[in-house]
Amino acid sequence: MTVEDLIRTLAEANDTAIVLTDTSLGEPGPTILYVNPAFCRMTGYEAHEVVGRSPRMLQGARTNRLVLRTLARALREGKPFSGCVVNYRKSGEQYLCQVDIEPLFNRAGELEHFIAFEREVKRRRGRPAKGALGRFEAVSNRQPAPKTNPSPA
Ligand SMILES: Cc1cc2nc3c(=O)[nH]c(=O)nc-3n(C[C@H](O)[C@H](O)[C@H](O)COP(=O)(O)O)c2cc1C
Repeated sequence: MTVEDLIRTLAEANDTAIVLTDTSLGEPGPTILYVNPAFCRMTGYEAHEVVGRSPRMLQGARTNRLVLRTLARALREGKPFSGCVVNYRKSGEQYLCQVDIEPLFNRAGELEHFIAFEREVKRRRGRPAKGALGRFEAVSNRQPAPKTNPSPA
């Protein structure tokens, strides 16, 4: 088994959604090169429906522009980003998503890809446990997202 096979196996078995893109940041990029099955379960899209498109396709009316500006700046500077965004599934249903993006550099130190680890979260009731992330708790993505919106906005 090559390292590449091993990495693919890990990505396919992982419950965290994984999105790999190129580094073209201006519209229509960044271009999605790979998504794992957990991404498809969370969003309701199949891989062939998103590969070649931009993660912007997950955005909608309630997506926070301020968070996106911080995200865009981090990507431009080749820095990691962690934050919570409102994303939309294929069905149109919105969900809160903890997004952690890492820049991937090659051996020459050049930026080659971005990889995102994405998890659906929900707001905790009551007082935050610890820090900003204590306000959210994970939602299991073992069940695929419904193909139609159960509660149309
Ligand atoms: C790997 C990766 C994953 C991303 N995932 C999301 C996402 O789930 N939701 C989202 O709103 N934006 C996501 N983005 C950010 C958008 O692609 C885009 O960079 C963002 O909208 C800021 O750029 P803009 O101001 O040009 O739109 C992701 C970006 C990268 C590189």
